[in-house]
Amino acid sequence: MTNKKIYIVAHRGASDDAPENTIPSFQKAFAEGADFIEGDFWLTNDNHIVCIHDSDTKRTSKRGTKLNVVKTKLSELKSVDVGSWKNPQFKGTSIPTLEEIIDIIPADRGLFIEIKDDRKEFLIKLSETLKNKKLSPDRLRIIAFNPDTIISAKKLFPEIKTYWLFEWFSSKRKCLNGIAHKRLMHTLKKLNCDGVDLNNALYIDNNLVESLKELGLELCVYNVESSADAVRLAKLGVDYITTNSPAKIIDYLNSSIYLE
Ligand code: G3P
Ligand code: CA
Repeated sequence: MTNKKIYIVAHRGASDDAPENTIPSFQKAFAEGADFIEGDFWLTNDNHIVCIHDSDTKRTSKRGTKLNVVKTKLSELKSVDVGSWKNPQFKGTSIPTLEEIIDIIPADRGLFIEIKDDRKEFLIKLSETLKNKKLSPDRLRIIAFNPDTIISAKKLFPEIKTYWLFEWFSSKRKCLNGIAHKRLMHTLKKLNCDGVDLNNALYIDNNLVESLKELGLELCVYNVESSADAVRLAKLGVDYITTNSPAKIIDYLNSSIYLE
């Protein structure tokens, strides 16, 4: 069993209990002990980086107000209530900007920036924002599904660890064979990134962990919501677990079962 530190990443904040990608959700995640928060970012029509998962506001707004994020100005996006849909106690919560999020990160914690907006303007604005905010690169991680975005981000921010987001195939049989592992390693080398962020804990095995280690790459696993998965992944030596419920997962990992 490995005893190395496993980092807990709060997926869209403590999003099981608070509205995803909002300041209350991120604050709750830190209060629960998460090492990092994870958020999804887009550039608005008037050049502000905002945090919201979908390309429009429909799903996370109380009245289903549909504003296309990249075509809308910050002031209009700010008028949307993205808290009430989760629970009336969060009424009036607005979409946060990247700057607002950075301002609430405790000094010993960090931020996973998921780039949802693959336009080059986004990276330009991200670079400006990070320069202004002077957040140390070791408190930042960049993730994205688009391989070209990963390549561009790593070129622009060589000092920030960057992980490619990859969804396993739906067929378990395919994923567990050696070819899938080899293909993944090959792609990661081509992307020149620092590791991979994978979605399905079931598919993570010792072979995969060892193959990544041999290449000096790190492994994050997202959608980890069960105690069994969290404990197994920790024992395998993965680097990060991303979850909607940081308190629950931290509790499991600190339990006597894991320490045995
Ligand atoms: O942390 C990775 C995860 O956030 C990627 O999926 O759809 O929740 O952004 P999604
Ligand atoms: Ca995300």
